Amino acid sequence: MTMEKRLGILLAGALVALSCSELRKDLPAPVAPGVNVHDAAWSAPLNSGFHGRQLQAAQPAWNDQSCRVCHGGDYAGGTSGVACFKCHAPYPHSVMFSIATGRHQGYLRAGYFPLPACQQCHGASYTGGPVVAISCEQSGCHVDASGNGKSPEACNTCHGTFSAAANLTGLPLLLSAAPPGSVAGDTSAASPGVGAHQKHLLTGTTGKSVKCQECHVVPVSWTDPGHILRPVMTMAQHGPSFSPRATMTAVASVFFRDTLANLVTGNGSVAPHPAFDPGTTKCSNTYCHGNWLLRKTSASSIAQLVYKDTATVMVGASASPAWTAGSAEGQCYSCHGLGPDKYTPVGHEDYALSACAFCHGDVVDANGNILNRAKHMNGVIDLVSAFGGTRPMK
Ligand code: HEC
Ligand code: HEC
Ligand code: HEC
Ligand code: HEC
Ligand code: HEC
Ligand code: HEC
Ligand code: HEC
Repeated sequence: MTMEKRLGILLAGALVALSCSELRKDLPAPVAPGVNVHDAAWSAPLNSGFHGRQLQAAQPAWNDQSCRVCHGGDYAGGTSGVACFKCHAPYPHSVMFSIATGRHQGYLRAGYFPLPACQQCHGASYTGGPVVAISCEQSGCHVDASGNGKSPEACNTCHGTFSAAANLTGLPLLLSAAPPGSVAGDTSAASPGVGAHQKHLLTGTTGKSVKCQECHVVPVSWTDPGHILRPVMTMAQHGPSFSPRATMTAVASVFFRDTLANLVTGNGSVAPHPAFDPGTTKCSNTYCHGNWLLRKTSASSIAQLVYKDTATVMVGASASPAWTAGSAEGQCYSCHGLGPDKYTPVGHEDYALSACAFCHGDVVDANGNILNRAKHMNGVIDLVSAFGGTRPMK
């Protein structure tokens, strides 16, 4: 049941059931469930006697001890049998947002981000509502590094760089939404939520910047289906007649679907079919890490001289890099070589790293460093004009 519905039903019930006793400064002694102690107005949000308004207006400030006497030290019901959380799941915050549960961030994560519940009191745009004049942006809470307020729905609130401006769409604006930090707040590349993000983005050192949509379905709004996946209900929650159709987990979805993911080589014979295994955090069959093939017969006659005499094809290493293993997976030989000191692909004549520049001079320099990241792992064969210039990788 939605919170709104639940509120409606509970409030309607309460209005009928409540007697006329007032909230007095000195409330009666703790009572048993079913004995009405509050005025009907106490449960009617539009009435000035509504408990929320009374508590907000209380002078001196509301002392929650006065409710705990009957509603329990943990607000879970106590002798009154009525939990505050029946109607507003996250409130009183003092209990729900405890340090032990990770404050409000921990509460939100554990509940798969029930932001609509917060809007009920803090307003539709979280800047304070008719019920609570407390804005998420106040006192430097949800603000960017320049002090501009930003909605908790900004793409870099729950993951990425919290202090960045509320971001828009497309690289490089979406960069601030990429980990670190992960959803859980991790910043180490050894954590799957962080992994090799930065190496694939603008800050990488060897390759072209990879767009988010090469590896993800990028949501337009945080509420897009498929963005925040909830675990499927277990059998116990549904009863024995229920059989789950699929098992969803609460980890990020990785789908390879854009240009490089679909780059077909080998004269149409090799489609990369890239995949990510969340269990091992390894990628396999990606074009970038070497799932490609070139045919000698497709090369220009001068380029054919670089194919080994016996070779009819040239192939990449088709590596399966681990997302969390760091720079070990980005060695020059790992995607198109056979091992340290063997940098050229199978089928290609062997050359030292210092020689690549002679023929691939607009991509690497004479020391084997990448000169132009935009031309490396871009789906194009880059050769100096003496060897035929550039041609599509196919
Ligand atoms: C003397 C015991 C007692 C105290 C103190 C007390 N309550 Fe209650 N409260 C009850 C009981 C019993 C009920 C259920 C019967 C009723 O609605 O009167 C109830 C019901 C309510 C309801 C309505 C629930 C519904 O289903 O409509 C609200 C809201 C509420 N209390 C809020 C508060 C707040 C806020 C405080 C502190 C300022 C407080 N109460 C202090 C005993 C108490
Ligand atoms: C019967 C349902 C119900 C119960 C039980 C209930 N509340 Fe509320 N409370 C509401 C509703 C409805 C609002 C207003 C939220 C809205 O407008 O969306 C509210 C708002 C509040 C607010 C609003 C803050 C403000 O500025 O007005 C406070 C504080 C509050 N409740 C405290 C309590 C406490 C403490 C308890 C338990 C002792 C409690 N409530 C139990 C229904 C309930
Ligand atoms: C029933 C009304 C109500 C609801 C629902 C509500 N808040 Fe609040 N919130 C308040 C009130 C009243 C205050 C100020 C007094 C207090 O902190 O108890 C407040 C204060 C806060 C604060 C200030 C600091 C703090 O921890 O006390 C944060 C953060 C906050 N709310 C976050 C949330 C989030 C996140 C949600 C949704 C999960 C939420 N609130 C839902 C009423 C509400
Ligand atoms: C090279 C592929 C790749 C690219 C490009 C990429 N991601 Fe990811 N992303 C991943 C992988 C792999 C995971 C981890 C999945 C897992 O935890 O199982 C992930 C996880 C995430 C997560 C979830 C983090 C968590 O804590 O679970 C977010 C958020 C995310 N990516 C955002 C982005 C954004 C925004 C961009 C673009 C700026 C981007 N990613 C670009 C591969 C990529
Ligand atoms: C309220 C928190 C929240 C907000 C706001 C949010 N995200 Fe996420 N995002 C998540 C969580 C949580 C995950 C991890 C997936 C999971 O747990 O199911 C995630 C995962 C992702 C991923 C990885 C792919 C996936 O679907 O798992 C991308 C990309 C992403 N978010 C982009 C965005 C963009 C773009 C926005 C702004 C339009 C945004 N997020 C706003 C919580 C949020
Ligand atoms: C003598 C010139 C020459 C040298 C030196 C050379 N290559 Fe090549 N390379 C070529 C030619 C020609 C092709 C084949 C292109 C085709 O099929 O049209 C090629 C193809 C490749 C390919 C696959 C297609 C592409 O362009 O990505 C890779 C990867 C590659 N070379 C890497 C290297 C590396 C690494 C070095 C240095 C260790 C190197 N090459 C040194 C000429 C050279
Ligand atoms: C993550 C995988 C990966 C790593 C690591 C990698 N390469 Fe490449 N490299 C590729 C791919 C894929 C190509 C195929 C051509 C393209 O798409 O640009 C390529 C092509 C090349 C070429 C041929 C020129 C071209 O772009 O067509 C050279 C030369 C080269 N790489 C050198 C290097 C050097 C030097 C290093 C280490 C600094 C390195 N590579 C590391 C994936 C990689």
